[in-house]
Amino acid sequence: MPTFKDREVQAIQEEALREIRAAANAADLERLRVKFLGRKGILTLILRGLKDLDPDLRRRVGQEANRAKKALEDALDQALADLKAAARRAPAEELDVTLPGRRPPLGHLHPLTRITQEVCDIFLHLGFEAVEGPEVELDYYNFEALNIPADHPARDMQDTFYFNEKVLLRTQTSPMQIRVMEQRRPPMRIIGPGRVYRRDSDITHSPMFHQVEGLLVDRRVSFADLKGVLLAFAHQMFGPEVSLRFRPSYFPFTEPSAEVDISCVICRGLGCRVCKITGWLEILGAGMVHPAVFEAVGYDPEEYTGFAFGLGVERIAMLKYGIDDIRLFYDNDLRFLRQF
Ligand code: FA5
Repeated sequence: MPTFKDREVQAIQEEALREIRAAANAADLERLRVKFLGRKGILTLILRGLKDLDPDLRRRVGQEANRAKKALEDALDQALADLKAAARRAPAEELDVTLPGRRPPLGHLHPLTRITQEVCDIFLHLGFEAVEGPEVELDYYNFEALNIPADHPARDMQDTFYFNEKVLLRTQTSPMQIRVMEQRRPPMRIIGPGRVYRRDSDITHSPMFHQVEGLLVDRRVSFADLKGVLLAFAHQMFGPEVSLRFRPSYFPFTEPSAEVDISCVICRGLGCRVCKITGWLEILGAGMVHPAVFEAVGYDPEEYTGFAFGLGVERIAMLKYGIDDIRLFYDNDLRFLRQF
């Protein structure tokens, strides 16, 4: 039976730590626990034998043996925890070269981005050119130059977020018309997609939404050209069987103006909940550019005519995908987005 006399406590501790480090599994560790700390373990016997020592030696050896006991307990616990952690990691790190490869998940474009691109593509094929404009806009471009002076009642049609008297969040993509016409001379065919903002919120209206603006200016442009271009667009977007309906309307920057409906793509014009039993759905506003707008940008309205239109991207996306709540587009719920 070993005692402190033939095996110094320090040496026992070192040997035990060496063996713990070399242990390959939990059973090895348990065996070492018994060997050193068990009821008949080496350290336990030393501690028990203390009573036979003279007081001085007893205190010194006692302190040393207790320190060693604590060190071994800690080392055993740590070694066991390390083994468990390694076991947890092991399956992931194991490489099975016979498994078929796993495709990394691919993201995709947001449905609104897709519809915007689709709309723009159709017009690009018709010879239009894409432009951009600022979302933080001057009152001048959003209203004034579009023939909507300060006290004009038409300002109530679009409840506006203002930064100050002169700066606002654009309520429509139409200010892009002015910015482009200021810079260039006709002829021009432009398409301008972008975000717009209004104080407006329910299942078909959102405070931030997207529009695509169109503008064509040249000599002898007529309302028939506008109808032809929009019909070509509708057929490309929704198929050759849809028809368009032009309803007289009012926009200060076009004359004459129209709101354009498409035959309901859900019920094919028969009448359903989405089209409110009318068989028609509004998708855009349009008209012939008002002479006052041409004057604001220095074009001669006697020489040039043109048409413009602005369509709601969300409205098109809701029709195309059969979605009845506009807010779904902005919730970023992956269950919704993954369907597209
Ligand atoms: C306009 O914004 C005009 N600038 C369109 C225009 C351009 C007319 C050029 C003539 C010439 P309106 O306010 O009707 O018009 O909006 C156009 C489309 O945006 C609507 O048909 C609708 O589809 C969509 N829209 C309007 N308000 C919201 C909203 N709060 N949320 C989602 N879509 C909306």
